[in-house]
Amino acid sequence: MLFSPSGFSECLREWEDLERDYQHIQDTHRLYKQKLEEVTKLQDSCSGAIARQRKKLKELTVSLEECKENHPTTKLSPEDVDAIAGMEGSIRERADAFSEMEAFLPKKNGLYLTLVLGNVNVTLLNKLSKFAYKDEYEKFKLILTVILFVFSFTCRFLFSYRALDALFNFLLVWYYCTLTIRESILITNGSRIKGWWVFQHYLSTFLSGVMLTWPEGALYQMFRNQFLTYCLYQSFVQFLQYYYQSGCLYRLRALGERHNMDLTVEGFQSWMWRGLTFLLPFLFFGHFWQLYNSITLFKMFQLPECKEWQVAMCSCSYMVLFMGNFFTTLGVVYQKYMNNQDKSKNV
Ligand code: COA
Repeated sequence: MLFSPSGFSECLREWEDLERDYQHIQDTHRLYKQKLEEVTKLQDSCSGAIARQRKKLKELTVSLEECKENHPTTKLSPEDVDAIAGMEGSIRERADAFSEMEAFLPKKNGLYLTLVLGNVNVTLLNKLSKFAYKDEYEKFKLILTVILFVFSFTCRFLFSYRALDALFNFLLVWYYCTLTIRESILITNGSRIKGWWVFQHYLSTFLSGVMLTWPEGALYQMFRNQFLTYCLYQSFVQFLQYYYQSGCLYRLRALGERHNMDLTVEGFQSWMWRGLTFLLPFLFFGHFWQLYNSITLFKMFQLPECKEWQVAMCSCSYMVLFMGNFFTTLGVVYQKYMNNQDKSKNV
């Protein structure tokens, strides 16, 4: 290939620019690696210092308790008693401060995440990535909700094949399993998801697994339509839940407030109550459908031709789901109502 002299000098200039850029990239990357090492060292020293302080504060709390118990013999002055009360108050505040700090420090995974992912760090180190992960979790649920809705509709009204049902149940097993992993990561990153909602997804994984193994037969066919219609309804409720949960997420983020709601979030509170009042009847209807499923299966279990263990197992699982969901939802609403009352009193 022949170069014209001017063409070649342009190439040369271009190459020199690229060389300079490459040097710059190398320097930046070196700096980046150095900073990463510094960050890791800072994380270790911060975590270590917090652990040491926690241990010492615990020892100090015990000593203060002893001082108070032996008060008549050690004869503490009223100033000393005040000083002890002050120290105890500060110790409690410090525990909260440490929890806030730890939200941005890597921590060891719980048993479930260690079993599933191994000992990999899943702590997200800034608020933006925590928000993005939660947002992605909600979107993941939405996409799967739409897929599950279409799938259950197809099985319910269009095609009746055991193999297709098995595929549907397999998708449910995978979906709930994935939710438990994502929720464990969210909890590691400071989400306040109640233990029951995570357990509910473990139970749903189990239930879908049992449905998957239920062999084709008269009893399976007896329950099939009710189960698929219930799945359709659940997808619909999940869609409403998505609207509510993502609305909460965006509004709280816009307020810059996460866990310490105060009076500045009045607008949020009223939006939340409107959302909840709309959502709750649908949720409760779903819970009673779970109870109805449990009773239907229990009645099937009493039939003389019932040989499948899946019937009793699903009946028990639906009963536990009903009780857990119903009472936890009542508890959440009561807790929110009481918080609201407290805030109104403080105005
Ligand atoms: N699944 C996953 N996460 C949930 C959840 C659920 N069912 N309910 C609440 N959370 C999360 C919230 O997103 C929030 O997360 P964050 O700390 O990361 O912001 C945290 O838990 C605390 O939420 P909380 O304020 O207690 O409740 P809420 O106002 O977000 O939602 C309900 C309240 C009642 C609407 C919600 O719990 C719910 O939909 N429950 C019913 C679920 C159900 O019964 N499903 C079966 C239907 S048939």
